[in-house]
Amino acid sequence: MNKVLRARDAVLRMKEYHPPLSGRTGLRLDFNENTGEPSPRVAAVLQRLACADLTRYPERASVEAVLAKFLAVSQEQVLLTNGVDEGVHLICETYLEPGDEVVIVVPTFSMYEIYAQSTGAKVVSIPADPEMGFEFPTKTVLRSIGAETRLIAIANPNNPTGTAVNRRDLLAIADAAPQAAVLVDEAYFDFFGETVLDAIARFPNLFVARTFSKAYGLAGLRIGALAGSEEQMRLLRKVSSPYNVNAIALTCLPEALDDPGFVKDYVAEVLQGRARLMVQLAFHGIPYWISQANFVLARIGALHREFVAEMRQRGILVRDRSSDPGCDGCVRMTVGKAEHTDRLLITLPEVLATIGWTAPAARKPASRARSVP
Ligand SMILES: Cc1ncc(COP(=O)(O)O)c(C=O)c1O
Repeated sequence: MNKVLRARDAVLRMKEYHPPLSGRTGLRLDFNENTGEPSPRVAAVLQRLACADLTRYPERASVEAVLAKFLAVSQEQVLLTNGVDEGVHLICETYLEPGDEVVIVVPTFSMYEIYAQSTGAKVVSIPADPEMGFEFPTKTVLRSIGAETRLIAIANPNNPTGTAVNRRDLLAIADAAPQAAVLVDEAYFDFFGETVLDAIARFPNLFVARTFSKAYGLAGLRIGALAGSEEQMRLLRKVSSPYNVNAIALTCLPEALDDPGFVKDYVAEVLQGRARLMVQLAFHGIPYWISQANFVLARIGALHREFVAEMRQRGILVRDRSSDPGCDGCVRMTVGKAEHTDRLLITLPEVLATIGWTAPAARKPASRARSVP
């Protein structure tokens, strides 16, 4: 008799995923976090927290009411989650059976594939073409929808490309796949400003995810949210732990939401920095994709490893994305506070000179030209 504990086949088939989270000392431009601090209102409420507050289980509902008001939806339409990551997991657990199809457009956020695979679902990856500016292949997505399609996950704007899909296409996809959950992950909404949140009442299969890990600077607290139709959210609540979001995160969120000026100022700083970074990349002849998020993906080429290592040597962490589909030689750089962008922009020519980088003269700047939205 085989006495070895065996995981489910779906789990055995999964690849391991180890994002480079350890030893991150320096200026963190590698995970698209806020590069400064959260709102001072968050700092103040943390000071007031007493140790005794930690002895109680967290109360999620009252904070959901605050968030619902903030998002202009009903409390029944939102669920707070342990980051968007958990929201994706809950959607997979609620809707996917082994063999079901999940449609994603790659490159994209890794967790869609990971959670989908863990259920035994089949992931259908549709490539976006870097030479076409990673434009979202709406027609191909629509054509790939079949009776087995049970989830379509779309990051808008997308990570790692920074490109966005227009609302009309997103809603056309939701309309064409009533049998599938359509997740529009708006983790970078604050830097983009467009949403389909208002459409959740019209499309019972549409879910919108938001995170407080990016513009709000609360990545370490792990707090995000899902919004969807009341009926579907009731099902997700059945799957969710009632204690999924910790008490500290729940204490901080209302304070963070109550300081819209903080996010507005941070976003303004990021948008300026993003424009400056794109200008500098163009100046050095580095192909990049026009981004709607708080990062820019650039094609460094064959010297991408040296680029990342030399940046690290100078105390700046950027993320090598060269193994993502269509991202050969690509590096993603987060844009944060102005002083951090200054540092990145001062270091950039230095690193390019050190690695002996030369602009790809023969190469048409097709990807850049086509990435104009
Ligand atoms: C598209 C996208 N969704 C979700 C997340 C993670 O969000 P959270 O920290 O809320 O789990 C990320 C983080 O990089 C992301 O890029």
